[in-house]
Amino acid sequence: MELNNKTIVITGVSKGIGLALAKQLIAKGAIVFGLGRNQAEDFKHPNFHFINCDVRNSQSVQTSFTKIYETKTEIHGLINNAGLGYFGYLEDMPESQWDEMFQTNINGMFYCIKQVLPQMKKDGFGHIINIASTAALEGMAMVSGYCATKWAVKGLSESLFKEVRDFGVKVTCVYPGSTKTDFFRNSPGIQPHDYMLMPEDVALLMVQALEMPQNIHTVNLEIRPLQVRGPKK
Ligand SMILES: NC(=O)c1ccc[n+]([C@@H]2O[C@H](COP(=O)([O-])OP(=O)(O)OC[C@H]3O[C@@H](n4cnc5c(N)ncnc54)[C@H](OP(=O)(O)O)[C@@H]3O)[C@@H](O)[C@H]2O)c1
Repeated sequence: MELNNKTIVITGVSKGIGLALAKQLIAKGAIVFGLGRNQAEDFKHPNFHFINCDVRNSQSVQTSFTKIYETKTEIHGLINNAGLGYFGYLEDMPESQWDEMFQTNINGMFYCIKQVLPQMKKDGFGHIINIASTAALEGMAMVSGYCATKWAVKGLSESLFKEVRDFGVKVTCVYPGSTKTDFFRNSPGIQPHDYMLMPEDVALLMVQALEMPQNIHTVNLEIRPLQVRGPKK
């Protein structure tokens, strides 16, 4: 899809991968609606519209999409990016952290998809991109809760792809490896470093997936840093 003048919604745009993607899409001429609890102070553009939204709250999500559909008849892309992870021993994890991860990483995704899917099916086009993680591809010690949410994202995405492909709607699931963002603030022992992916790298591959011609579809996008520990010595 040619991105110029297309309407793309991204959840979680205050920093990290979501912000990097918003910037790249704006540079391509897209009209971006960013749904989030916080706005990046230093990123303003006439084609970037921030809407205050907590994706855990279905009412907040519904109100946000109502606002978008008041000005746009079509949403060409939805990127479900908002997410977070708490790491640690399962028995030590407070229920509040477990709930926050599930509410944000999977419930929020469900609420957003429900808002765009009927219109996308009617239009016969639309691209939904869900950000999972390589934590959706293998179990990891101390990451059980986060892995569980991202395995759910994988299951939702694979199933929905099969459900809506005949309506012309694309569903891509993205599996980034370690990316240098604020994500690791809740995972003691992991320090972000320069051999990780950069948020711009993940964003770039999503832009490429969005730009593919209609009959070419990136179903899964697994992205890893080639040498996460640096070049072999
Ligand atoms: N970094 C990695 O290594 C990595 C690897 C694989 C997958 N991922 C996934 O990539 C996605 C983006 O993460 P990131 O690395 O860019 O982390 P990040 O820098 O912490 O950014 C996360 C974004 O999600 C937003 N968010 C969180 N809870 C929200 C809510 N309830 N409502 C609306 N927005 C909310 C945050 O906004 P606030 O300012 O409101 O908190 C922030 O903009 C997540 O789904 C994460 O699981 C990350």
